[in-house]
Amino acid sequence: MPERQLHLGYMHWLNGTHWGGWRHPDAPTARAFELEYATKALRITEDAKFDFFFLGDTLAGDIAAEQWITTHNTGRLEPFTLASQLALNSSKIGLVVTAHPTFYEPYILARLTASLDHLSGGRLAWNVVLGASDLAARNFSLPDLGGAARYERADEFIHVVQRLWDSIEEGAYLQDKKTGHYVDETKIHRLDWQGTHFQVAGTLPLERPPQGHVPLLYAGASELSRELTAKWADINFTGPATPRESIAFNADVRQRAERLRGRVDPIFFLPGITPLIGDTRAEAVELYEELNTLLPYDDDIVEGDRDESYWSGPEGARIRASSFPLPKGARSVRSLTERVGVDLRALGIDGRVEPGTAQRFNGYGHRLLTALAERTGRTPDNGGVRVRDLLGAAIAGNFPLVIGTAGQVADTLIDWFDQGAAEGFNVSTPFLWEQLERFTGEVVPILQERGVYRTEYTADTFRGHFGLDIPPNSFTTADRQEERSA
Ligand SMILES: Cc1cc2nc3c(=O)[nH]c(=O)nc-3n(C[C@H](O)[C@H](O)[C@H](O)COP(=O)(O)O)c2cc1C
Repeated sequence: MPERQLHLGYMHWLNGTHWGGWRHPDAPTARAFELEYATKALRITEDAKFDFFFLGDTLAGDIAAEQWITTHNTGRLEPFTLASQLALNSSKIGLVVTAHPTFYEPYILARLTASLDHLSGGRLAWNVVLGASDLAARNFSLPDLGGAARYERADEFIHVVQRLWDSIEEGAYLQDKKTGHYVDETKIHRLDWQGTHFQVAGTLPLERPPQGHVPLLYAGASELSRELTAKWADINFTGPATPRESIAFNADVRQRAERLRGRVDPIFFLPGITPLIGDTRAEAVELYEELNTLLPYDDDIVEGDRDESYWSGPEGARIRASSFPLPKGARSVRSLTERVGVDLRALGIDGRVEPGTAQRFNGYGHRLLTALAERTGRTPDNGGVRVRDLLGAAIAGNFPLVIGTAGQVADTLIDWFDQGAAEGFNVSTPFLWEQLERFTGEVVPILQERGVYRTEYTADTFRGHFGLDIPPNSFTTADRQEERSA
């Protein structure tokens, strides 16, 4: 077996990541508040020897609007509470909880994560997020998220959390019945942290977590996100579009990490992907197109639900300039027209886009055509591009889809892995359960046969799955340095 092994995480979204997926006839009715629903996904992925089970989290406010987008945001169990139950229902798979530093205190977060790392036997990881919803801030007596200052807060936050994890060294609990010493005072440390955002005395009343420091995940590709990953993260799961982009991103972050950490640490890049699997490529494409018909569109799919004043105002201008998935209320041929810069309304939703029309598209329109060709093989030249195909792609465009047979999906993953563009993938499914089970039942065995993926777990901890060392305790290291210089 080759040394280098691919890593897989499962990003658990209640209804999968395709926004129309929950309406598919085979999709289950999600049961967001029942443990059995999450544990079913946990069992499927632990049986397939996944490295981790990933619980994202947002503290959004506009629940009614979320139904048109990421339906899993309409109701969420608190991630630490859910993860503690998942820990009880599994024994090997890593568990990733998500927490936004803006909405926690480092002491609370350190306590939650250290507790869960102990209770799960060292299987926890923390996904640090800085998602930009000001709505969430208003649930925390904050006017907004603090703009770029939230990255600064996160930086100090993570440092304080790591120091708190270190505050009681391993072996501190003597319980010496003879002498009456319950703890070894020399192994218990105070932080006395006086920072810009936080003042934390310590000590955290917990022995250092089994993993020393709970591993950190992060997703994001902006300048500030690159710096944050480079300084703190063990894993980044941003989704670059091509292997070339990914290689450049990874090299950039690793270079920054050397500068910021003063050493070469492994950082794992696990792009997020949504595989969509069929018996044949044509069947997979057909499924993708069926899912797109299930997206919530405007009531008037050609003219849209907005009037002229909307399109001539600031909101219309924002949508025109953006390349984000079209929001509900602007999911029509009219919106597409604004986006690609060519009026397509006369063609209707099922009209064909001729090569001459496509040539007049702006840059966004051409990128849409490229994505469509990659996903479905439809091009203006082969007469395959209908207006509905472009509209679907302009809405369901936020997750990198890999569409094909199980063999083709495996080939794509291995190609990225072999090129050094990824150490693995944070996998999501377009809808449950069939597509998730096809990935674990058909793609994973191919990866195993090809020798790039484990057939049995060889470790019991999150760090163990990734071969990550337990970092030294910062208090112990400081003491040793003091001893040396004394
Ligand atoms: C695949 C992916 C998943 C994410 N999940 C969450 C999440 O669950 N909660 C959240 O608040 N932010 C989430 N984010 C946002 C990130 O935490 C971060 O704020 C953002 O990616 C910064 O992006 P940028 O640096 O590229 O601008 C996610 C980002 C990506 C790319």
